[in-house]
Parts: sequence; structure tokens; C-alpha cells
Amino acid sequence: MSKDSTGHDWWHIYRVRNLAKRIARHEGADIFIVELAALLHDIGDYKFFKGDEEAGAVKVRGWLTSLEFSPSLIDKIVEITSQISFMHTLPDKSKEKGKKNSTTSIISKELMAVTDADRLDAMGAIGIARAFTYGGFFNRPIYDPAIKASKFITKEEYKTTEAPSINHFYEKLLKLKDMIYTPLGRKMAKRRHRFLNLYLKQFFKEWKGKK
Ligand code: ADP
Ligand code: NI
Repeated sequence: MSKDSTGHDWWHIYRVRNLAKRIARHEGADIFIVELAALLHDIGDYKFFKGDEEAGAVKVRGWLTSLEFSPSLIDKIVEITSQISFMHTLPDKSKEKGKKNSTTSIISKELMAVTDADRLDAMGAIGIARAFTYGGFFNRPIYDPAIKASKFITKEEYKTTEAPSINHFYEKLLKLKDMIYTPLGRKMAKRRHRFLNLYLKQFFKEWKGKK
């Protein structure tokens, strides 16, 4: 991950690890599980396995098994790293657009801490930087007024979109504030969400040459 430019670089992992631990302390979650899951949470990302959503879990499980962790601890870590993705919350079918995917199972305190930290890192000033870095890596334009953003997209559309980076704010970033589990996370999300809106306001003013 040291040279990744798709938003999953080492410093993303570093920030998520620190923030997840802070949230975990507030929530009384198991710090060891939270830290290990935070460090491994993007190893399982489907984008690293040509879209295969299961391959990541196999890799995380295999590595933890080689370190001789107990099966129950391994299950807990894999549960977090495979549930964390924003994409998993999107519906599979078009007719369910706007609804949450119902396949998400039990939500432990540890899953909440790591998920909140990962989502917070996609918001605010850092979230903006990551969105444009990701867009640049995949040759996406910054913005194209002819390509409208849609708030409600399916999992497949999220995976295959080639839309401009600004659209990603509407497809994901602005929705994150209402998807945070913990009180400390929500407090931070409020500030980061406000910053996203402020940024978009200024962006469109500049686009029109007004400011
Ligand atoms: P998740 O694993 O939760 O589905 P991603 O891996 O898609 O999240 O996101 C990684 C980073 O890249 C985040 O900062 C996210 O906002 C950004 N990103 C993902 N898809 C896009 C996109 N289509 N355009 C711009 N940024 C994106
Ligand atoms: Ni992440």
C-alpha cells in the first residue's frame, strides 16, 4: 500500500488505525481487535482482486491463520474487514435504489469503531483529497456538467462508474454523515460534512466564474 493512489495508501491505514482506536476507547471496544482489523481492512478490498469480493477475506484469513491466532479471533477480524465497505451497504438491484442492503449481519462495537474511522477518512478535507486522487488515477474528469450525479446507485453502478470525481460527493461522501454508528464519530462527521458542503459551494461558484 505504500505506493497506492486509489485512496488506500498507507497513510489512510495509519489515520484509520489511530481514529478507530480513539473511538474504540470511547465505546469500550476491544482495542487489539480494532487495531488489527484497521490495519488489515483494505487488504480485502475487491478492487485489488479484479472485482472479486471474496478473495480479500481469504487473504486476511490465510495470513492470520499463519500467525496462529485463535479461530474465534480470526473470525472477528474477518467479520470486520469483510463488512466495512461502503459498497456493501448499496442495493444489488435497481428497484431497491435508496434502500440499504439487508445482508449486513451483527454489528459489534469493534466493527463500529473501524467502520466509523474508515468513513470519516472519506469525508472532510482528507476525503476531498482522496476523491480527486482516486479520480486522477482512473483518468476521470474533475467535473462535467453534462454528466449528472445520482444519489441512489446500485452496488454494480458504484463499482463500474466512470463519472467525474465531483459526482462521487453525491454518490457517497455526502451520505456518510448519516451512516456513522458512534456518538464521537457523529460529532466529527458533522464537522467534516459541513466542510464538504462548503467546498462544493465554493467549487460551483468558481466553476461559474462568480467568485
Ligand atoms: P469502499 O471500500 O468503502 O467501497 P472505496 O474503496 O470505494 O470505499 O473508496 C476508497 C477511497 O476512494 C475513498 O476516499 C472514496 O471516497 C474514494 N473513491 C471511491 N470511488 C470513487 C470515485 N468513483 N470517484 C472518486 N473517489 C472515489
Ligand atoms: Ni479504508
